[in-house]
Amino acid sequence: MVRIANALGLVILSVALLILSLISYVSLRKDSFLSSSKYDMGGPRIMFHAGFRSQFAMNFLDPSFIPLTNALNEELQGKPSKWKFNRTAFYLQRKEIFHFIDIANNFSLTKNGVRVGQLMHFDYSSNKYVFSISNNFKSLLPDMSPIYNKHYNVCAVVGNSGILTGSRCGNEIDQADFVFRCNFAPTEVYYKDVGRKTNMTTFNPSILERYYNNLLTIQDRNNFFLNVKKLEGAILWIPAFFLHTSATVTRTLVDFFVEHKGQLKIELAWPGNIMQDVNKYWKTKNLSPKRLSTGILMYTLASAMCEEIHLYGFWPFGWDPNTGKDLPYHYYDKKGTKFTTKWQETHQLPSEFRLLYKMHGEGVTKLSLSHCA
Ligand SMILES: *[C@@H]1O[C@H](CO)[C@@H](O)[C@H](O)[C@H]1NC(C)=O
Ligand SMILES: *[C@@H]1O[C@H](CO)[C@@H](O)[C@H](O)[C@H]1NC(C)=O
Ligand SMILES: *[C@@H]1O[C@H](CO)[C@@H](O)[C@H](O)[C@H]1NC(C)=O
Repeated sequence: MVRIANALGLVILSVALLILSLISYVSLRKDSFLSSSKYDMGGPRIMFHAGFRSQFAMNFLDPSFIPLTNALNEELQGKPSKWKFNRTAFYLQRKEIFHFIDIANNFSLTKNGVRVGQLMHFDYSSNKYVFSISNNFKSLLPDMSPIYNKHYNVCAVVGNSGILTGSRCGNEIDQADFVFRCNFAPTEVYYKDVGRKTNMTTFNPSILERYYNNLLTIQDRNNFFLNVKKLEGAILWIPAFFLHTSATVTRTLVDFFVEHKGQLKIELAWPGNIMQDVNKYWKTKNLSPKRLSTGILMYTLASAMCEEIHLYGFWPFGWDPNTGKDLPYHYYDKKGTKFTTKWQETHQLPSEFRLLYKMHGEGVTKLSLSHCA
């Protein structure tokens, strides 16, 4: 009996495998059909690529994206860019943002603003999750907001989209007075495209888990130490109270910084529960995703510190609007990494993009999508 059952199991397994391989064969064929048809037709290549791929993207991403493609095509064709800054419109937006959130004050918790033993909650988690403020944590908080009374002329906010690969925008980005980056993105081997300067980067505590093995070995700790050291002089903006899943790694991070106090000349900023207020502003622009992207959050912060904001690396689609070629999700993804749409579960990057593009059209901010001169 047992033998028969085993043999039967084997047969069922083989049939299942056969069906699976048939399915993947068919979907492979479908992909190659789609990709060959998009390259074989004639016509003005750039226009065609962008238009066609946008329609292609539309099916999977966001129906509201499609009316944008003609304007986008014209914009990309019309080099040099005819973008003009409208300071009035930018100031108007800043005033509207200030109506919902006091950015200078809400940029970071401060020593005086918390007490040891206080239970913090998380913006995006159930209220049952808490984080108790420890002496160590408190000791890492700034005495006052690191951006209090700080004003810069032109700021660059650099998103991590694969569109930066080969953009040669590094010089232009470095010319900004203050450069914002997202999620501790590497710059070292990408200088030409993304620049060298970093004046502030966000650091989601989960980065320790994903890239530094929770600092469990000496090598992990050294790696992390050296990578933070490279950012000396910059602000590390650590959203520890957005998601309860950060709680454990936040303790690891706090211990690390307490241990290395004095050895790392980096300014730490720890925002509290600010997302509700930030969301309120963007909701007035009909943007209300489950979670805003780090990029648009940086833009929100920058609006209080900068006289003019230029955006780079904001492009949430898996194809280059200039050439139609496939793009990886991040500029630092390894070659061959495919664009993924995992973010769709929580983010609405295409809607964010559409809004930023609209702001670009109104002269509120400059959105760079083509290669830099
Ligand atoms: C600049 O923006 C303001 C406010 O949105 C608007 O009234 C004005 O017409 C804009 N100016 C130009 C030149 O577009
Ligand atoms: C934001 O700033 C205001 C004061 O302007 C303060 O009352 C509030 O508690 C701050 N919120 C957070 C989350 O830091
Ligand atoms: C920004 O960072 C660069 C180094 O990356 C530094 O030289 C520059 O002084 C910083 N600017 C400001 C305004 O802090």
